[in-house]
Amino acid sequence: MKYDLKQLTLDEKITLLCGTDCWHTYGANGKLPVLHLSDGPNGLRKIDENDQTVKATAMPNISTLANTWSRECAYLDGATIADDCIENNVDVLLAPGANIKRTPLCGRNFEYFSEDPYLAGTLAKEYIKGVQDKKVGTSLKHYLANNCETERFYQTSEVDERTLREIYMPAFEKAVEAQPYTVMCSYNLINGVYAAENKKYLSDYLRQSFGFKGVIVSDWGAYRSAYKSINATLDLVMPHCDMHFANVKAALEKGLITEDQIDFCAQNMLNLIEKCQAEKGVTTTKEERHENAVKIAEEGIVLLKNEGALPLKQGKICVGGNFADNPPIGGGGSAYVQTDYQQKNLAYLLQEDMGKGSQVEFAHAYLHPIGDTNKTKAVYQCAYWADSVILCVGNDSGIESEGYDRKTIKLSSTQENFIINTAKYNKNVIVVLFAGSAVDMSSWIDKVNAVVLAGFSGEGVNQALSKILSGKTCPSGKLNETYPLSLEDCNVKVNKVGLCERYSEGIFVGYRYYDSFNVPVLFPFGHGLSYAKFEYSNLCVTQTGNTDFEVSYDITNTSSVDAKEVSQLYVKDVFCTVSRPEKELKGFSKDLIKAGETKKVTLNLNYRSFAYYNTALDKWHVENGDFEIMIASSLTDIKLCAKINIQLDESTQQSQI
Ligand code: GLC
Repeated sequence: MKYDLKQLTLDEKITLLCGTDCWHTYGANGKLPVLHLSDGPNGLRKIDENDQTVKATAMPNISTLANTWSRECAYLDGATIADDCIENNVDVLLAPGANIKRTPLCGRNFEYFSEDPYLAGTLAKEYIKGVQDKKVGTSLKHYLANNCETERFYQTSEVDERTLREIYMPAFEKAVEAQPYTVMCSYNLINGVYAAENKKYLSDYLRQSFGFKGVIVSDWGAYRSAYKSINATLDLVMPHCDMHFANVKAALEKGLITEDQIDFCAQNMLNLIEKCQAEKGVTTTKEERHENAVKIAEEGIVLLKNEGALPLKQGKICVGGNFADNPPIGGGGSAYVQTDYQQKNLAYLLQEDMGKGSQVEFAHAYLHPIGDTNKTKAVYQCAYWADSVILCVGNDSGIESEGYDRKTIKLSSTQENFIINTAKYNKNVIVVLFAGSAVDMSSWIDKVNAVVLAGFSGEGVNQALSKILSGKTCPSGKLNETYPLSLEDCNVKVNKVGLCERYSEGIFVGYRYYDSFNVPVLFPFGHGLSYAKFEYSNLCVTQTGNTDFEVSYDITNTSSVDAKEVSQLYVKDVFCTVSRPEKELKGFSKDLIKAGETKKVTLNLNYRSFAYYNTALDKWHVENGDFEIMIASSLTDIKLCAKINIQLDESTQQSQI
């Protein structure tokens, strides 16, 4: 250890727990390097000494990254942002967010991976490895049960133990396997105690049960009480808070905390400072980082509907909507990245990709939020003569943002009418939808031939869209969250009673609800179309241990286009004596399968693939009996199924893992 607690006075140790301003840690009068912490999950958002936001590569938002279902993309995303951090002397990136998408209304869903903890945790872990393999730290956030923005500073999430263990903790538990340098606690209370001073969840679970060894940092301003937060092992209060120093000293003098507890937190800070001194090196150019943003966007864009419209055929192509020219690249708030990348209009890029056999025309219409009727007419006239019409619509950083939740999941009536009216003039409308979370398309989807979810996909989104629309890239993205038919069908809105958000739906969140209760949806979890066709065969399940199984299957690309396929593994506990979802995601793989090629995919299952959390036993528990292992192309497109029976003796049935 280069930095020794003994070097520090008591006051210096306490000051080390307070930060020195909005973004820096304490240097102890030159004894320690000062660390710079900076947002964010969708690219570097560094506020410099002049309070200006430094320009950086605007990567696809986490929700688009999740739609790639690619561990490689998650790693690449983290590694790419790390280079911007190194170039700008940022030691810890305040990312990724791993909160579960409990309701499509949550303003920050664009910053989060999924409604499913397995997908969220797996990709968050790879993202953290990507950043930290370049010796830049991360901050896994916002721990815990921070699933809406309304009243986020004061609201208590009232969640039962089984739901916490099965739904809201596992993504953090899995991501902590990568040992993020820090974990950021959330603003909200969890079952009546602020996250920043909640010993049960910070110390007992995060540190003891999940094995987290790093620094726990407060969300900015989430700190409440010195002695409670020190007792809960919160190490670092950000931003700087004079009160914290004074309160810690007072708590020490009153005997509410001990110097050993202060030393525990200060030692965690010294360990963090030490880790951040490792040799770092930039390995990509700015252009290469941009190309990585395009690549991830290409893999995260989802083809939701396609009735013969895509890939585009040669001919007259009309591109309408101001988002073609100025695409939303991210949601609002602390994750918004300032890029100096000059966007090219989608129409221009499409003309390049389609070549001389097509004539691509851009018809500008300023649609958001209030449509400009004249300009809209220009689109209708352009559409009237076109063979294909592409409408670029959706939400932007004003609609989906940190700090507030949506009130509706519909598009503005201006945009809905724009789509409906355009479809009166052309029967081959393709909607390109910009959004970070589910959208109700019920009023217009039957009037269009195709829907492409562009998401919030960073500075490379138009290049990625052009490649997919023209067929130069085969779409391979799949939904990380359910798109319900309407908000009324969603079992979770934001059902506050005063400041208490009761998670009364329990474990039945997202597809676990819709699928188990046979509620029809617009597009299911894991859905995404391709230009290729895949056949699944030869499912083989081999038991390799009490609850360890090797699952293999073949996927054949029967089309003439090379493509990537995301195959998903769901497990069903057929006769469980407690309520369990109809099926749960327990594995997935994304594979490039060339035209005509057959690829064997192998996934492994273990105890936690079958277990539920038994609160009577206070353990993960696999109940003896029958299970089904389903291989699928989406939650509802089951391709192969195998039945297995698990018989364990009492001792192995229960595990503390
Ligand atoms: C914000 C966000 C958090 C961010 C931090 C610093 O309030 O909740 O995600 O990292 O403050 O900007």
